[in-house]
Amino acid sequence: MSLNSLFDSAARGHMNAVRITEDHRVFVAEVPVPTPAEDEVLIRPAACGLCGTDLHILHHGFPGSVYPVTPCHEFSGHIVAVGGAVRGLREGDFVAVDPNVTCGTCRWCRAGRPNLCPHLSPIGVARPGAAAEFVVAPARNTFRLRDSLRADVAAMIEPLACVLHAVDSSQGVKDRDVLVMGGGTMGLLIAIVCDMFGAGRVTIADPSPAKRAIAGRAGIANTIDPAALGEVHFDVVFEAAGVRRALEQAIDCVEKTGVLVQVGVHDADAMVGFNPFRIYERELRIIGSNSLADKFPAAVDVMNDIADRAAVLIGETFPAWEFARAAQAMAAGTGIKTQLAF
Ligand SMILES: NC(=O)c1ccc[n+]([C@@H]2O[C@H](COP(=O)([O-])OP(=O)(O)OC[C@H]3O[C@@H](n4cnc5c(N)ncnc54)[C@H](O)[C@@H]3O)[C@@H](O)[C@H]2O)c1
Ligand SMILES: [Zn+2]
Ligand SMILES: [Zn+2]
Repeated sequence: MSLNSLFDSAARGHMNAVRITEDHRVFVAEVPVPTPAEDEVLIRPAACGLCGTDLHILHHGFPGSVYPVTPCHEFSGHIVAVGGAVRGLREGDFVAVDPNVTCGTCRWCRAGRPNLCPHLSPIGVARPGAAAEFVVAPARNTFRLRDSLRADVAAMIEPLACVLHAVDSSQGVKDRDVLVMGGGTMGLLIAIVCDMFGAGRVTIADPSPAKRAIAGRAGIANTIDPAALGEVHFDVVFEAAGVRRALEQAIDCVEKTGVLVQVGVHDADAMVGFNPFRIYERELRIIGSNSLADKFPAAVDVMNDIADRAAVLIGETFPAWEFARAAQAMAAGTGIKTQLAF
């Protein structure tokens, strides 16, 4: 889409948006440009990343999704309008958005665990996402970025925030031996962050030689095929594959008194087998990590420090209006982070 036709359609009060219907069809529709409320901003997306959630919305449905869905919750862009009550943000600001719109008042929100808010209404799931010419976000979810940060890298602040929550949940990685099961976007970001936070030794296990090679380029020297793991034990194990076999194997790899952080999102009715004697005998802790909690501002800071390493993760990038093709490429699983560009 040329810039001129973009402004033409906006001038008519309409914009193009990717829409996914409940019967799993995806198309580009002309819809009204949203008007920001008093406490909201209107953003023109610059880059957005696809994630497993987008594929779930496309193929099966995802808890909380409201069809037709305009997908994409991982994005960066520029503010084009602000509501009357917005302070500290203005037109032209380069921003990233915490997509999790919460009530702010329930017990979980007040406890600093907004990811567990029962009224959670995420952008790109329950409200329109960034695969559109414009997207609305609450000002309190919108964070100004350095102009020098690349738009595609900035679109990875959201997954990085999830990673910071996971690493925080591990109760500390400093000087500890870390294993990350899965070398996709999440696994690689976890490994990079553990490295940065002073972990003793960080190993990525992934069956794909291509993924192990990318890990090497992102500065993770220790990679292994999970089939070769054997009886080695680690103080902290992150399961970031979302695959049953990976979780079962992860439990076997935890050292006495160690921690398993489960980051992978398994099917809602999935069951895994493990030996409870082992949990007892070794005094293991198993901790779930769901979304990003209150880590978005921290992720903005950390991304400034790891931008070059994170850039290695960006895989194929498609024009925004080729969402279906981008989703296919992502499902093929050969690259790391598939993105849309505008
Ligand atoms: N907890 C959260 O907040 C959160 C946020 C984003 C994504 N996720 C989940 O994290 C998981 C990983 O996400 P991603 O974007 O990196 O996905 P991805 O598909 O890019 O990466 C998964 C990796 O796991 C590898 N893998 C497959 N089988 C394996 C096995 N047996 N052992 C080790 N590795 C194996 C694959 O080769 C792939 O590289 C998914 O389940 C996703 O839904 C969780
Ligand atoms: Zn995501
Ligand atoms: Zn709440």
